[in-house]
Formats: sequence, C-alpha cells, structure tokens
Amino acid sequence: MDKVLVTGGLGFIGSHTVIELQNEGFEVVIIDNLSNSSIDVLEGITAISGKSPLFEQLDLKDKSAVQNFFSKHKDIKGVIHFAASKAVGESVQEPLLYYENNLNTLIYILQELTAKKASNFIFSSSCTVYGQADNMPITEDAAIKPAESPYGNTKQIGEEIIKDTCKVKSNFNAIALRYFNPIGAHPTAEIGELPIGVPQNLVPFITQTGAGLRDALSVFGDDYPTPDGTCIRDYIHVVDLAKAHVVALKRLLNKKNTSNYETFNIGTGVGSSVLEVIHSFERVSNKSLNYKIADRREGDVISAYADTTKANEELGWKAASSLDEAMLSAWKWEQKIRGL
Ligand code: WQD
Repeated sequence: MDKVLVTGGLGFIGSHTVIELQNEGFEVVIIDNLSNSSIDVLEGITAISGKSPLFEQLDLKDKSAVQNFFSKHKDIKGVIHFAASKAVGESVQEPLLYYENNLNTLIYILQELTAKKASNFIFSSSCTVYGQADNMPITEDAAIKPAESPYGNTKQIGEEIIKDTCKVKSNFNAIALRYFNPIGAHPTAEIGELPIGVPQNLVPFITQTGAGLRDALSVFGDDYPTPDGTCIRDYIHVVDLAKAHVVALKRLLNKKNTSNYETFNIGTGVGSSVLEVIHSFERVSNKSLNYKIADRREGDVISAYADTTKANEELGWKAASSLDEAMLSAWKWEQKIRGL
C-alpha cells in the first residue's frame, strides 16, 4: 500500500482528500500544526473511513522537524501539500507571516523531496493566480496577473519555485491544482468547513446566517457588469476537489504525466453569481435567507470560472456535483455542528 503524506491534512480540503486517498487504498500520514484546524477532524476521518491515518503535529516552518520527519518516513511515495495560511484579507495585514508560512514550508519540503531518487508532489494552488482573467472560462494558459494580495502572491511564487525546481530536477514530478471555490462538506456530515471566527467566504457565511448565528449576509456589491450585478465564481464540491487530488497523484505514480511540471484548473466550469448561490441555499434549505446589499469588497474580481477541458481530457477528472448538491452538503454540515 503506497504511503502518502498530506500536509494540512486536518484542514477543510486536506481532510476530504485524506478520505478519498484512504478509499483508494493509500496509507496516509498527516502533518498538521493545528493552527487552523482541530484534532477532532482526525476522529471524523476515522468515523468515515474506518481507518485512522498516522498523524504528526509539527510546524513545517521548523526546518529540522521537516528533515527529521522525512528521515523517519523514507517510504513516502507522494506528497499532497495543503498546509498554508489562506485568508486573503489577513494576508494584506500580515504579509510577512504569509510569506514565511506559505513559502519557507514549501521550500523545506521540496529540499527533502528533491534529495530522494524520485518524488511526486501535488501543490494546492488557486485560481487567484489569474487575478481578473481577460476571458471566461479561464484556461490554464491564461495570463498570470499581478497578485491582488500577499496570499495570492504566495501561490504565484509557490508555483514559480516548483517550476524552477522541476527544470533542474528531472526526478521530481509535480502537479499544481488551481482550485476555484471549494464549498460543501462530506455527505456523512462527519467533516466539513470549520471557519474560525466570522467567515470570510460566502458559503459558510450563508449557512451560519441560515442557522441563526449571523443576522444577515452582506452581498458585497450588486453593481458589477454581470447579469444580476453580483460577482461570479465557480463553486466546486469539496469532495469533487478531493478526488481530483487522488487522480493527479495517481497520474504521477503511474508516470502518465507528459512533463514533470503540470497545472490543472479544478472547477465545475459553471459560473454562479452571489445571488444565484443565495437562491441555491434557499432551494435546498427551504428557508429564506436574510441578506442586504453592501459596498463592494476590495480586491474582488468580477468573474472567475474554469475551463475544465484540460482536467477532463488529460487528467480524466470531472466535477460530479451541482451547486445545489454542494450547498445541501454545506447546510447539512452546518445543521450538524449547530445541533439543529
Ligand atoms: C465569493 C464571492 C464575494 C462573502 C477566496 C480566495 C480564494 C480561495 C477561496 C483560498 C465574492 C462574495 C463573500 C460575503 C459576499 N481561498 N461574498 N459576502 O473571494 O472568490 O475566493 O476564497 O484558497 O483563493 O480568493 O471567495 O467566498 O470570499 O467570495 O458577497 O460575506 O462572494 O464578494 O464575490 P473568493 P469568497
């Protein structure tokens, strides 16, 4: 059974990916520093899969800890790297924290992997690297625009670091998955998104409003040049996103990759406006959502949704869930954690 390291494996996307790896027969080792997750997620993973992954609480900013880990686990066949800080707004306030946490950790892992005979690496990237793309849907060869935030910059720089490494290390194989907007939760409602404090992202704010934790959702602007005036995004079920990681890892393990550095847009290919997401919640919950129109949010792009042709045809992956199915899973999770 191939052993795979998942960094940030107790986080939102990481935990769902651990489940899909276990379902495919991989042995999973999780590293997490619990800065943005809870040890309870380990219980949720085990409850779903019946298999408890190995877990090491360590901070990847500690270079010697990373070196010790890899000397202990020489049989790791692949690494899926989620561990990073990811709050756009916070990154503007704390840029050095973001550059240190998102880049030093990546470099320390790559130093270990490139010292091995052969290694396989899946990088958690983001559609944020495109900024406001010129054309919709967005293809992988769309221009990489100057980042709107230090967070987005760490994803761009991260990809560059990996690309430059791949150029000189032919034994190092990497895939960067550029996520669009992950939403929802595992259908068992044993794991899901656990935003700390006031949710920055749309869907957890909607479900918390639906659960009565928030008075009203503020819609950040309805005067954009879109059909209903609100911003458009590509909301993908987190389980579909998790499955994309397993497919990408198998591509490298089975040496099906066409170069040792590849990028794929991981989305549904469907753009949904903020108001359409609100209506999706109202349909699946049979509740009316209290919301008000507020000012635009600094740094928001007008529209971003994926051209998924490359992932469909080359990766052999396609998102299966609709917006309503993803929203229903998010709502079921919210009800579960609030005891509703
Ligand atoms: C979606 C839309 C908001 C909250 C960010 C990061 C991206 C990834 C996902 C990490 C926008 C609107 C939101 C609210 C609102 N993060 N909105 N009221 O900004 O597309 O992407 O999170 O990997 O890298 O950039 O997601 O959910 O914050 O916003 O109207 O209370 O919902 O203006 O149009 P975003 P989001």
